Amino acid sequence: MRVAESCTSMRERLVEFSREFDRWLDAALSACDGVPRRLLDSMRYSALAPGKRIRPFVLVRSCEIAGGSREDARSAAVAIECVHAFSLIHDDLPAMDNDDVRRGQPTNHRKFDEATAILAGDGLLTLAFEILTRGALDTARGAMDGARGGLDAARTVRLVRQLSEATGPAGMIGGQMLDIAGESQSPSAPRVKRIHEMKTARLFEAAARMGADCADADEPVSAALARYGHGLGLTFQIADDLLDLTATLGDLGKHSGKDQAAGKQTYPACIGEEPSREEARRLAESTIRCLDAFGPEADDLRELTRLVVERRS
Ligand code: IPE
Ligand code: IPE
Ligand code: MG
Ligand code: MG
Ligand code: MG
Repeated sequence: MRVAESCTSMRERLVEFSREFDRWLDAALSACDGVPRRLLDSMRYSALAPGKRIRPFVLVRSCEIAGGSREDARSAAVAIECVHAFSLIHDDLPAMDNDDVRRGQPTNHRKFDEATAILAGDGLLTLAFEILTRGALDTARGAMDGARGGLDAARTVRLVRQLSEATGPAGMIGGQMLDIAGESQSPSAPRVKRIHEMKTARLFEAAARMGADCADADEPVSAALARYGHGLGLTFQIADDLLDLTATLGDLGKHSGKDQAAGKQTYPACIGEEPSREEARRLAESTIRCLDAFGPEADDLRELTRLVVERRS
């Protein structure tokens, strides 16, 4: 199959996945009791807006590759997308990237207001951990009354650790700090690499490792998938920086041309557009090689890598 054809079918499979995933996400958000109406509306507005759902897809496919089921990965997949939605709401705030459009609709603070957007982000971040641990509590209760529950406590602790480390001050949130600080620094390739690793690759790596953890995979399987996730995240962020340079609002559902105006640390700003494209392709190839130990069951993740690097929207 040619690359263009395989990208088209991968895109279709991602859309198909997101139909099922969006039902899981909706159900998890509908199970929230006692949340003030406006806060819940604001959380649902951003989380259920049409995103690509790449992180939960990586998580679920990693779980399946490692021998687990979709159901094993469900809570963790919803949790990681809640963290991602939180990161987008806060990323768009006037004090951060100051964006008006996200996922083809007004950003959260534009639709609601800044205070609500900050709290909706906080709400989604904390809800992610509530969702992750709900399963373990169900299992503990199930052990007493014989009902089938979610993942056991040991696996849940590993998942909480993965997600909190990847999201926290030494992960995505720390990367966002460096990204903002980088606006007033001269472009530097080592700086960009560190920012990309922290703000984006850590969460992709967590997606793959959490999927493996949901399946209780052995360390070599988990480590190979984690390396894949990390490489995919780096590739993804270079592609995102390139799209900011070349794509349109209609393609992306968000404004482009903003990074240069804000003086962001990006690969194109450091090494130029064409070398950045080459770097993304080179990274994509080495990322695909992280899956060499797996057979055709990992083809979706291989094709996803090609889609990430070739995508125009
Ligand atoms: C945007 O992520 C933020 C970055 C890390 C570049 P996505 O491009 O995955 O956003 P959605 O989820 O599809 O909206
Ligand atoms: C954001 O990077 C990374 C996050 C952790 C949210 P960008 O600021 O480049 O993401 P977009 O382009 O606004 O989606
Ligand atoms: Mg940003
Ligand atoms: Mg941004
Ligand atoms: Mg961007």
